[in-house]
Amino acid sequence: MMKVRTYEIGDTEKIVKLFYDTVHEVNIRDYTTAQVDAWAPANTDIQTWIQSLSSKLTFVAAEGDKIAGFGQLEINGHIDCFYCHKHFQRQGIGTLILTQIESKAKDLELKKIFTEASITARPFFETHGFMVMRKQEVERRGQKFINFVMEKII
Ligand SMILES: CC(C)(COP(=O)(O)OP(=O)(O)OC[C@H]1O[C@@H](n2cnc3c(N)ncnc32)[C@H](O)[C@@H]1OP(=O)(O)O)[C@@H](O)C(=O)NCCC(=O)NCCS
Repeated sequence: MMKVRTYEIGDTEKIVKLFYDTVHEVNIRDYTTAQVDAWAPANTDIQTWIQSLSSKLTFVAAEGDKIAGFGQLEINGHIDCFYCHKHFQRQGIGTLILTQIESKAKDLELKKIFTEASITARPFFETHGFMVMRKQEVERRGQKFINFVMEKII
């Protein structure tokens, strides 16, 4: 059974691969090749990932040794990375992770959670009661990306 738990260091390589694959094979629906290459470059530094995954509240959806998705909450309510495995899209995994994030945010007595949703992820967050506050253009590794600042009062 799929369960959501907190990140462990042994998850790192699977998460890094999941991130790369999802951006290149799912987000490519809404962004160009140049954009996805800048978003998820082929050569990533594992130590930087360990640092980022450990410094935030990272939740992992896992079944046995399979990782189906991960999502991150920061203590100010910001949802940072939020990705499901390319073979586990639209199977309720994102909902499972978001439910845990919301529950943690309530424990932390946060009044709202917010994110910068990709074009791809916007409908998912809308379904879960997030509102688009504004559309913005951000730059990463020389590429410009459209995303949406979205928030939910909890
Ligand atoms: C966004 C994402 C994490 C959602 O995870 P998911 O497990 O596929 O989502 P769920 O199966 O829990 O979706 C729940 C509901 O959200 C809505 N939803 C999700 N994706 C949708 C889409 N592409 N279009 C319309 N509605 C969507 C639907 O109402 C869905 O319920 P349904 O499948 O019964 O219709 C996933 O699509 C993903 O990995 N996207 C690419 C990575 C990304 O852009 N991440 C955000 C970075 S900013």
